[in-house]
Amino acid sequence: MKKIRKCLFPAAGYGTRFLPATKAIPKEMLPVLTKPLLQYGVEEAIEAGCDTMAIVTGRGKRAIEDHFDISYELEHQIKGTSKEHFLKEIRQVIEQCTFSYTRQREMKGLGHAILTGETLIGEEPFAVILADDLCENKNEGVLSQMVALSEKFPQHCIVAIEEVPKEETHKYGVIAGEEIQKGLYRVTDMVEKPDPKEAPSNLAIIGRYILLPEIFDVLRTTPPGKGGEVQITDALLHLAKEEKVLAYKFIGRRFDCGSVDGFVEATNYFYELENRKK
Ligand code: G1P
Repeated sequence: MKKIRKCLFPAAGYGTRFLPATKAIPKEMLPVLTKPLLQYGVEEAIEAGCDTMAIVTGRGKRAIEDHFDISYELEHQIKGTSKEHFLKEIRQVIEQCTFSYTRQREMKGLGHAILTGETLIGEEPFAVILADDLCENKNEGVLSQMVALSEKFPQHCIVAIEEVPKEETHKYGVIAGEEIQKGLYRVTDMVEKPDPKEAPSNLAIIGRYILLPEIFDVLRTTPPGKGGEVQITDALLHLAKEEKVLAYKFIGRRFDCGSVDGFVEATNYFYELENRKK
């Protein structure tokens, strides 16, 4: 099995829940403290061993490309001043990996966004991070845990899961599975955003995936599902029927930064964390 080098970031969504903030700024660029959400995701991917970031953008998302590039004017202004250290982290990120971009012209769902990224991925297994699921773990990042697992199970796709209150299943892809070792499930069923009454469990998919390149062929023939959009959950169900999908209960915390409540919670949490470091 090839090493996981590439990480795909679907980043074409409108971010309507954060309007008016997201009218001219991509939602992936909203900062938790001083760092944009997407940079947290990129740093998690680098920690997991990825060196190629494949970003699926859309109209109005140019700030993302500018962020992961050198700003000569800024570098010039800040050089040798007391503020230079503010650029240290982003400089390191830019030096450690490459960024490539493609545009999703129409919003046809997460599955469609991932298929749009095929041109940047090619024929190799890859990771997917949804930047608005912000994950934190002291020792090993969530994607790194999944990459380690994929080395043991190279013929499987892997989704990250966590237990959610049953009444919240309508916000997530939800799996059913057989626990094959502690915290690891062989997926037998998966449903996109089911009503609590119809949910096969309370194990919700969160925005971290390890996918095999065969997912692209499946996505090409996956009809629109929930909300009239092509769902990655439906494509994965196809592979789950061939026993090719695992679900992993990750170690760490996850903040739903796609919602204002989760965003505020993440901000408070990272603020406390930074203060403790001082
Ligand atoms: C997407 C997926 C869903 C998953 C969720 C995790 O939904 O479709 O299966 O549970 O991400 O955040 P979205 O939140 O983009 O509506």
